[in-house]
Amino acid sequence: MVNQKRRSFIAGSFLSGIASWAQASGGTAERQETPQEIAGPFYPITPQKDKDFDLTHIAGRDGTARGAVIWITGEVFDSTGDPVEDASVEIWQANAEGRYNHPNDPNPAPLDQHFQGWAIVTSGSKGAFRFRTVMPGSYPAGLDWERPPHIHFKVMKRGFVELVTQMYFPGQPLNETDRLLQRRELAEQKLMIADVLREEHDSFHHRIVIERA
Ligand SMILES: [Fe+2]
Repeated sequence: MVNQKRRSFIAGSFLSGIASWAQASGGTAERQETPQEIAGPFYPITPQKDKDFDLTHIAGRDGTARGAVIWITGEVFDSTGDPVEDASVEIWQANAEGRYNHPNDPNPAPLDQHFQGWAIVTSGSKGAFRFRTVMPGSYPAGLDWERPPHIHFKVMKRGFVELVTQMYFPGQPLNETDRLLQRRELAEQKLMIADVLREEHDSFHHRIVIERA
């Protein structure tokens, strides 16, 4: 119970953080649609009950996920700059050691029984959403290719084109050699790399723009 209260308190302070961030970015914010990216081979296929915003804890289990806890906050907009409320915002990612909870993941890195790995939330007022998770590990995607830490997103709402994309973290050296990220123009890369919301680098903000169908 205390833990729950504390979580709500922390979430509240982050949400006010987003409000001031949004104010600061004001009308100059980008309206370009978030680039589509492949879903990759590890889209979750194993049913799981708990898909709430907190990926660091699985309901009914004692224990928490390994790794550095981070917050991902963001907003969904349409390409005219209006917020999109009630959109389904889904994420899936590797655990802190770079392993997906997916039967086809060949990475020998260990699974984490306390990491949720997959979450679906609904964008709220002003299109806002948030997740609490751990920094994903990098993982080998080929003989000479290590994928940088990233989070897969799927954003859906009736009347809009479904967006499947990947979000990257700023300042990660592996971003510079990632074949998926580096095949894009710099302007597109910028739209796929989150902003740091707090100097401690434990909180990130990602602005998503989806296209009307
Ligand atoms: Fe991935």
